[in-house]
Amino acid sequence: MPEPVTIYEVGPRDGLQNEPGFVATETKVALIDLLSDTGLTRIEAASFVSPKWVPQMADAAEVMAAIHRRPGIRYAALTPNMQGFQAAQAARADEVAIFASASEGFSRRNINCSIAESLARFEPVAQAAREAGIPLRGYVSCVVECPYDGAVAPEAVRSVAQALLDMGCYQVSLGDTIGRAGPDDIDRLLAHLGAAIDPVRLAGHFHDTGGRALENVAVALDHGLRTFDSAIGGLGGCPYAPGARGNVSTLPLARMLADAGWDAGLDLGLLARAEAFMATLKAESA
Ligand code: HMG
Ligand code: MG
Repeated sequence: MPEPVTIYEVGPRDGLQNEPGFVATETKVALIDLLSDTGLTRIEAASFVSPKWVPQMADAAEVMAAIHRRPGIRYAALTPNMQGFQAAQAARADEVAIFASASEGFSRRNINCSIAESLARFEPVAQAAREAGIPLRGYVSCVVECPYDGAVAPEAVRSVAQALLDMGCYQVSLGDTIGRAGPDDIDRLLAHLGAAIDPVRLAGHFHDTGGRALENVAVALDHGLRTFDSAIGGLGGCPYAPGARGNVSTLPLARMLADAGWDAGLDLGLLARAEAFMATLKAESA
């Protein structure tokens, strides 16, 4: 029997937040609806952040209201603070995510506070999510390298990941935010984390700047990780991480996993349809 693995689609959030222009609400909705047909069970659909910081996500509430929700899919949203959490809850997000950094430079640039301040800010969000029965996910960015501070030590990743788990995150996603990590870096990191954290509570979030994201997934599978974030068509990047390219692309990831005997429960033909939809839009806007 093939072993199950989860692909966590982040294209509508991580992908579209980084598009140069504003993607129309109906286009976002159409993309999410296409993705909902593919067998995915997790779709990060929006981000309730400051529209001054990320104007591309300003229509998060409208997107969440207009999508056709399929039973069995959790439509998730990023929530950097209580204001974001309350908006996400009002928009009926099925899951929320808090996002920290393992490096101080990125934390400041991305969410305008230190790592310690961010963790303090997430506490009430975690508590509110717990009280509301909304699953809480965590991100740690810059797990190998930071665009501002350079190399990041595995110890720094471990302490932030542990803090997010202690706060109640069911899973922490490890972001190679600028996509420069190679398999050796991921191996070293996961060997360090694995001594303290059950690997099924970790996810890989590999941007693909260096073209090594699929290799990084393979190494992470060896370390026991079973959830991988990806974006349809390889969309993605963070406006506060200069040089970062897209996330690992969903369809090639799904193919690689299927070829290696993993069961992600996805229909590759329908994923190709969603990818083609995005490609057409990109061609039209180019
Ligand atoms: P701040 O300016 O320090 O916040 O930003 P503030 O509390 O002082 O508020 C300033 C203004 O923002 C106020 O409005 C607030 O109402 C508003 P004003 O009075 O000036 O009109 N505001 C909000 N509006 C809507 N929703 C909110 C919200 N919060 C405050 N939730 C803040 C701090 C965290 C808000 C800001 O820095 C921010 O929004 N940052 C988000 C940056 C972001 O979204 N980055 C991309 C996502 S992270 C990522 O891509 C990495 C990841 O993929 C993993 C990886 O690859 O590594 C997850
Ligand atoms: Mg990302």
